[in-house]
Amino acid sequence: MVLQNIVSVLTLSVTLLQGSMNVAMPDKNIDGTLFLVNRQHMVTEQYIPQVRKTEVYGMSQSMRVDAATALEAMFAAAAQDGIKLATVSGYRSYAKQTTIHARKVKKVGSESADLYSAPPGASEHQLGMAMDLAQKGSSQLNGGFGNTKAGQWVDANAYRFGFIVRYQQGKEAITGYAFEPWHVRYVGKEYAKAIFDLGEPMELYVSANRLAVCDYLIRQANEVQP
Ligand code: DAL
Ligand code: ZN
Repeated sequence: MVLQNIVSVLTLSVTLLQGSMNVAMPDKNIDGTLFLVNRQHMVTEQYIPQVRKTEVYGMSQSMRVDAATALEAMFAAAAQDGIKLATVSGYRSYAKQTTIHARKVKKVGSESADLYSAPPGASEHQLGMAMDLAQKGSSQLNGGFGNTKAGQWVDANAYRFGFIVRYQQGKEAITGYAFEPWHVRYVGKEYAKAIFDLGEPMELYVSANRLAVCDYLIRQANEVQP
């Protein structure tokens, strides 16, 4: 009986905590800006964000509405600085990521493919908050982008528009991916500046800010079935 009471009190406390964290930290929920996706935090096939086409130069691509607006502002500012950016790949459904990943594995083998390609459910592209960028006139995604004027501009300025260069050089052990200077992830201006200043991947920002409780909320969000 006593044990039952203790369990009830604990259950209630967790429920209340969950509720208050949910309200206090909406940014970390799946439709927030700081939702962490990687091989350890995956989303289900059912997660489909609200996206729209980005109205910028490049391949016709979509992003979540807030991210698309921020991307357009970034392209406009880059153009003012004489930098011509182009979009290559934005929102990708779970099914599309499955195809892309399988194609890559077939081409280069799973070990090499996993350095650059997320398995289905582990890609920020499925969130609609990632965009692969290129310099206008070149749609090649490779480490060389980091040495172009466009790549250097993105590295130095993306945070001002709410984006981070998500897979940094030398941080492969934390992110699980090789350097991708072309892949930017929208997190909103406040978090982008904080992560840029920290100089570490989003994984460390999230854990340094004691957001582990939110992982629990993330798993909850993932468990929602259609
Ligand atoms: N290239 C990144 C890791 C992705 O596939 O989402
Ligand atoms: Zn990407």
